[in-house]
Amino acid sequence: MTVLGQPVDRTDGLAKVTGQAKYSADYTEPKLAHAVLVTSTIAKGRIVSIDAGSVESMPGGVLVMTHQTAMRLPDGGVTDAEPPAVRVLTLLQDDRVRYNNEPVAVVVAETLEAATEGAHRLQKTIRYEAAEPNVSFNKTKSSAYEPEQMMGRQASSSRGDISAALRQGTAHLDAVYTTPYEHHNPMEPHATLAHWDGPDLTLHDSTQGVSGVSNAVAKVLGIRAEQVRVICPFVGGGFGCKGSTWSHTVLAAMAAKQTGRPVRLVLQRPQMFGMVGNRPCTDQHFQIFAQTDGTLNGMRHDVISPTSTFEDWTETSALITRKLYAVPNQATSHKLVKLDLGTPTFMRAPGETSGSFALESAMDEMAYMLDMDPLALRIKNYAETEPQDNKPWSSKYLNDCYRIGAEKFGWSRRTAQTRSMRQGNVLVGYGVATATYPANRSQASAIARVLADGTAMAASGTQDLGTGTFTVMTQVAADALGFPLDKVHFQLGDSSLPHAPVSGGSQSVASVSPAVREAATQARAKLIALAIADSASPLSGATADRVKVEGGWLIDRTDASRREPAAALIARNGGKPIEATASAEPGDEKKNYAFHSFGAVFAEVHVDADLGTISVAKVVAVYDVGNVLNAKTAHSQLMGGVVWGIGSALTEVSDLDLRYGRYSNGNLAEYHVPVNADIQAIDITVLDHGDPYINELGARGIGEIGITGVAGAIANAVFHATGIRVRDLPITLDKVMA
Ligand code: MOS
Repeated sequence: MTVLGQPVDRTDGLAKVTGQAKYSADYTEPKLAHAVLVTSTIAKGRIVSIDAGSVESMPGGVLVMTHQTAMRLPDGGVTDAEPPAVRVLTLLQDDRVRYNNEPVAVVVAETLEAATEGAHRLQKTIRYEAAEPNVSFNKTKSSAYEPEQMMGRQASSSRGDISAALRQGTAHLDAVYTTPYEHHNPMEPHATLAHWDGPDLTLHDSTQGVSGVSNAVAKVLGIRAEQVRVICPFVGGGFGCKGSTWSHTVLAAMAAKQTGRPVRLVLQRPQMFGMVGNRPCTDQHFQIFAQTDGTLNGMRHDVISPTSTFEDWTETSALITRKLYAVPNQATSHKLVKLDLGTPTFMRAPGETSGSFALESAMDEMAYMLDMDPLALRIKNYAETEPQDNKPWSSKYLNDCYRIGAEKFGWSRRTAQTRSMRQGNVLVGYGVATATYPANRSQASAIARVLADGTAMAASGTQDLGTGTFTVMTQVAADALGFPLDKVHFQLGDSSLPHAPVSGGSQSVASVSPAVREAATQARAKLIALAIADSASPLSGATADRVKVEGGWLIDRTDASRREPAAALIARNGGKPIEATASAEPGDEKKNYAFHSFGAVFAEVHVDADLGTISVAKVVAVYDVGNVLNAKTAHSQLMGGVVWGIGSALTEVSDLDLRYGRYSNGNLAEYHVPVNADIQAIDITVLDHGDPYINELGARGIGEIGITGVAGAIANAVFHATGIRVRDLPITLDKVMA
């Protein structure tokens, strides 16, 4: 029995629950100095004066970095590097303020307390020349423009003849869906410890991409990437905000350079609302035309979202609309408006989360309009091939997700009328939505090494965001080596290890596993070759295909008594580890197939008929994500996605104060993510169909699909319960009070 797919406990679990796991801010260095950021209190304008001297001379003061005292960077800190690795940063190179809560100074002191006090004092000395900011999305929407591209994808699409289709059909839906600003808020805030050793920089940085940070910081500072080592074995949640290099990381490096000391900088929770990205709000205009039998003739999805004044970043909400249903005539577009806010960024299933709410709400509205079962409407328009480019799917079992999900949920108990499933004072509603996310893969490298002490190691410069990369890669390496799981140690989170991509876009498992497997397979082959060539080995002279490695032993398949432990073989041959490095990358399979994961999400909501309070009594979700490499971590990951989906449906919103361009709930007390008491039954099923084309493990990623479709399923259930269609997230009780 192979260890792949097994519900193996986290290999780093013990380290985490005993506090041994070191996160970025847990590291220290001799002579460590502490930095605290000071951020702007206006949204637009310039800094007239800052009294740095009075703060620097405070007890414990070390350095105050302002636009006047910060080191000058090549080209003003602007590089031609592209996101996600680098963004347009604020590095104290000029006096401009472009958004509220933007870095304007760094206070470095002997202790965190002194730096915090210094930052408070410095804040009060800043004089601004303020200009009127433009932060109103609603007022600016009419001047939206089309971005040149969206990370390599076209902003608009069309197929068939949308204008003709929009005139046909018997049922016509025309609705606008809106989603709010949201911020990531991982438990672990962004944190950096910067330490120079001569010309070389080491960063302990909480990041989803160690090599991306290394490259970006090197570029901004005008040094070589080999001079910047980024270390990050543990991440306390990323969700996309740690997928790019942001200002504070470079500012920490600059402060360390200027003070000649190691410097630690941790963002305060309110500082997470502005300078490190967020999910922008969206305005999504939907039109659907359908025939009475449910055949969809035409669909339009036009998205507008805000970005900053200095960088285009698009919430790609309509991308899944291009892919999900077999609609012959379709047009989609994405437009931006520039506001005096920080630049938005990737936030778990960026685009698919907001987009699936609109698409799946619109499908539900159309089903009611046609007097059709919402599930039947989806099955009626099932896309057997990818409908935009007409490619076959690499693998698609969405129909099974619908069927199995409906059975488990008890969808057949649903009565069609809204408000028809009332139980006393509780309005009960059932809703369904489709989940989907693209299956991405990039180049990755890994090393595997078998040691004379009977253990083996494998490593890759990938990351574990708390999701299980350590565990899954240990399984992959152990399986390919033929070693017991507890004899294999996996290392990650270090830019000096073989390169792996950013842990974003749900791509780590699909990208890194093939590299780890290949390196381990090559190391095993070297081990076997060594045994065959060694006259002292019981396997001497055997052919390679006759020798297997199992439980750390080399064994003759035809005569199991001819065997020896790998450790004995290596020890006898000088004790030098046997190692192999390998790279794995996608071939041209993307030319021939479309790669997506799918799921079906069913939700039961209970709405208090008098008070409008909404609770999600049950979510049943079934996913088709290719082979799962660890049933336990996969289940947790998907369940976490559903939990977040419940939050995005009911509670989550960043409240932007339009007078000041500042988020007014920048803390965990008022930014409402679900807590345990908000969550009831969640039933996750993962289908068991390997993807034959994504990679040789058949594994697509699962990081983001879990959040998709959830808000749609809940919104649809709320409509079924109450008869009130809420097209604006989050669905709070005021919106369902009839
Ligand atoms: Mo994910 S939003 O690409 O970290």
